[in-house]
Amino acid sequence: MPEDWRVLAAAEQGSRNHELVPTPLIVQLSGLRSGNAVHKSISNLAKIGLIAKLQNAKYDGYRLTYGGLDYLALHTHTKSSTIYSVGNQIGVGKESDIFVCANETGMQQVLKIHRLGRISFRTVKANRDYLRNRSSASWMYMSRLAAMKEFEFMKALRREGFPVPEPLGQNRHTVVMSLVDAFPLRQISTIDDPSALYAELLSLIVRLAEVGLIHGDFNEFNILIEEKPEDDGKAALIPTIIDFPQMVSVSHANAEFYFDRDVDCIKRYFDRRYGFTSDEPGPFFKDSTKNIRKRLDVEVEASGFSKKMAKELAAYMKEHGIDGDAGGVERDEEDEDEDEGLSGEQEEPLGVELETEAPLEQTPAEEVASDSTATPATLASQMTILDIRDNDPLPDLSEIQAMKAKQAPTMSTKAAKTKAGWAL
Ligand SMILES: Nc1ncnc2c1ncn2[C@@H]1O[C@H](COP(=O)(O)OP(=O)(O)OP(=O)(O)O)[C@@H](O)[C@H]1O
Ligand SMILES: [Mg+2]
Repeated sequence: MPEDWRVLAAAEQGSRNHELVPTPLIVQLSGLRSGNAVHKSISNLAKIGLIAKLQNAKYDGYRLTYGGLDYLALHTHTKSSTIYSVGNQIGVGKESDIFVCANETGMQQVLKIHRLGRISFRTVKANRDYLRNRSSASWMYMSRLAAMKEFEFMKALRREGFPVPEPLGQNRHTVVMSLVDAFPLRQISTIDDPSALYAELLSLIVRLAEVGLIHGDFNEFNILIEEKPEDDGKAALIPTIIDFPQMVSVSHANAEFYFDRDVDCIKRYFDRRYGFTSDEPGPFFKDSTKNIRKRLDVEVEASGFSKKMAKELAAYMKEHGIDGDAGGVERDEEDEDEDEGLSGEQEEPLGVELETEAPLEQTPAEEVASDSTATPATLASQMTILDIRDNDPLPDLSEIQAMKAKQAPTMSTKAAKTKAGWAL
């Protein structure tokens, strides 16, 4: 009902400066005349988990849940006709949920819901401190910053002709973009001519640097590969790059490190997976930034995503070890040994064990914080979506013997999708 939306929006507004929004403030912010109507809405919203009451709180109040925030964002997308319907969840990232959605004409799109703070690469100890200090408002704010950053960069890259999804809308912690009908590179087991794709991917890294940018997480999960049949019976492999919240400027203090890491990631993957090693060194950061022709990093700053926002988000992502999977840059000394294997080396993205935290909507912050026995296992048992990428059908990279293209059985992505039962 319209008044339910007003009350939900009031809970959101109050969450900006209250961890627990006092009920009288919700009544006031909703602007509704009848207190009774507000209380009825509050009870309706609480029943379906869009707002939640804290146990043993000092005063009567509610907080917005991630579910409530999702509803508000979807409501806005629906009103602006960006989204008409929402379908299956097609992905769970470390920091996001990915759904297929459609607009009024039935065109399929992707809805990415950012969930910063859901999972942290940090140690149990760090997690405990983090839970103690956490504030749902900051999680929501950071998720919104991630969505804004992703959207602004996608727009700028798309304008510049880079192969990225078409950005269609952004609201709160969500981004709507075109659906790329393709598989992540991670799921492509053989390639006829790895050298061509390898060269194309490295040239993308260089082209990004030439417009002032480094992707920062340029790995086999963030490169989608589309197969386009060609006249000679072969298929051209068309890459699309996704996932931009960790993108950095070439002027970043660690820019060269991030650039080299992106390059190494591709080199290592092609070597292990496809048995392809290039005999050419590089590309190198210094050469790639000699001819900067445009500063998209600066352009984006001038857009809705300000320098201040960029700093806040970067500090948060660094603190929680989610700056492009590495968690290895400028780490605190005390985490040094515990984080082994997650460092800048980025040995096995899949082999990494994720530590998990309870979702906001299920466990009130106070309860978790006071539970000193919280271990990753107990935290994990409280999660709604537990294992990340547990539906990845492929074995660990270390178990894969690089196969020569000719020996390997081949299957087109279309056939594989049909087999997997989700032909689009
Ligand atoms: N526009 C899109 N079209 C098709 N599939 C997509 C699209 N965007 C995301 N996906 C799918 O969802 C997965 C996760 O997306 P994305 O990398 O943006 O999220 P993430 O939370 O940053 O993930 P991670 O932290 O694991 O890298 C991708 O690997 C891809 O399979
Ligand atoms: Mg990703």
